[in-house]
Amino acid sequence: MASEAAPGLGLVSPPWPRPQICPEVAYGSLSFSRCSPRSPQSSLSSSNWRIARSSSAKSRARSCYPGPCSRPVTRSRAWATITSGAVNSETLLGRFIKEIKQEEQSKIVVATKFAALPWRFGRGSVVKALKDSLERLNLSSVDLYQLHWPGIWGNEGYLDGLGDAVEQGLVKAVGVSNYKVDRLKRAHDQLKRRGVVLASNQVNYSLIYRKPEENSVKQACDDLGITLIAYSPIAQGILSGKYTPSNPPKGPRGGIYNAEFLSKLSPVLNKLKQLGEKYGKTSTQVALNWLVAQKNVVPIPGAKSAQQAIEIAGALGWNLTADEVEELRDIAKRVSPVVGFPVENL
Ligand SMILES: NC(=O)c1ccc[n+]([C@@H]2O[C@H](COP(=O)([O-])OP(=O)(O)OC[C@H]3O[C@@H](n4cnc5c(N)ncnc54)[C@H](OP(=O)(O)O)[C@@H]3O)[C@@H](O)[C@H]2O)c1
Repeated sequence: MASEAAPGLGLVSPPWPRPQICPEVAYGSLSFSRCSPRSPQSSLSSSNWRIARSSSAKSRARSCYPGPCSRPVTRSRAWATITSGAVNSETLLGRFIKEIKQEEQSKIVVATKFAALPWRFGRGSVVKALKDSLERLNLSSVDLYQLHWPGIWGNEGYLDGLGDAVEQGLVKAVGVSNYKVDRLKRAHDQLKRRGVVLASNQVNYSLIYRKPEENSVKQACDDLGITLIAYSPIAQGILSGKYTPSNPPKGPRGGIYNAEFLSKLSPVLNKLKQLGEKYGKTSTQVALNWLVAQKNVVPIPGAKSAQQAIEIAGALGWNLTADEVEELRDIAKRVSPVVGFPVENL
């Protein structure tokens, strides 16, 4: 299929305005809680994610969704991502989309992922999983379909499956996630050979987790015209500044962002706060604005409430100066990053 028929985020003129920031309303608002006693980042299994099934959780989910009753959480597009295996989130999101006005529906951009789990082998499994997702979403196609992480025993089949999904009109653009440079280049080349654009690579990237800068993934994305989608862009809430050494996050996050780490982080948090005061913004908004300033980066912050989603939208429409962007990076460089998701090294 010709590349113009396979529009992607990586194209110069995608069919929709390229979103600058994409609150993951479906993901966050459905109150996924991490059941794994270990670091949430260390788990490969989507079964470690639990969806709150109560009616209050569903109503919180709905409140985050940019429907007619809620204030607009993005200026351009709402973006909803569903983790693979999170069956209920797809079903609920599909339901929410149907509930909003038709003219609003066309503004929604839906992205979902394929988990290369051990029982999903090769090419055919990609289209099959996508069709299952579409059925749950009650949609005929999604805007972006991503391989959630590299397959351990090979990726060629999965990449062929992505190409098949494009050719069958089931998805407008395709991407990968947690791909390091050599994998990314191979994936880009393989898809390109059949005229399909590799639109995006979703990786862990924030002011305090700058591995994509250090391992050249950011550079490779820029060079190849691949949009870098930044997950955990506010370091799972840490950059909001609401967690302190005396008030660390509870649950698995507390094991990573403990009192000692939060003490070391205080110069970064202080600078975010100070810049926020200058611009009349919150620390969350400054941290997201820093990512947007890196260019070719679309952060996907997870919002757990309508209030968080609205705040996230305030990261747009203004800019840190180049000096402030560099100053923040310099301060953040003095803090050792936490351990990331091991699959990004596969
Ligand atoms: N591709 C992958 O392998 C991968 C891996 C991880 C995540 N992701 C994706 O990336 C998305 C976002 O990542 P994430 O949820 O890990 O981290 P994040 O976006 O950095 O942090 C989200 C958390 O921050 C807090 N928060 C959100 N907005 C806030 C605000 N305005 N003020 C204060 N706190 C706020 C919320 O938690 P509290 O209110 O509880 O503090 C929320 O759950 C996820 O939806 C997921 O789909 C992808």
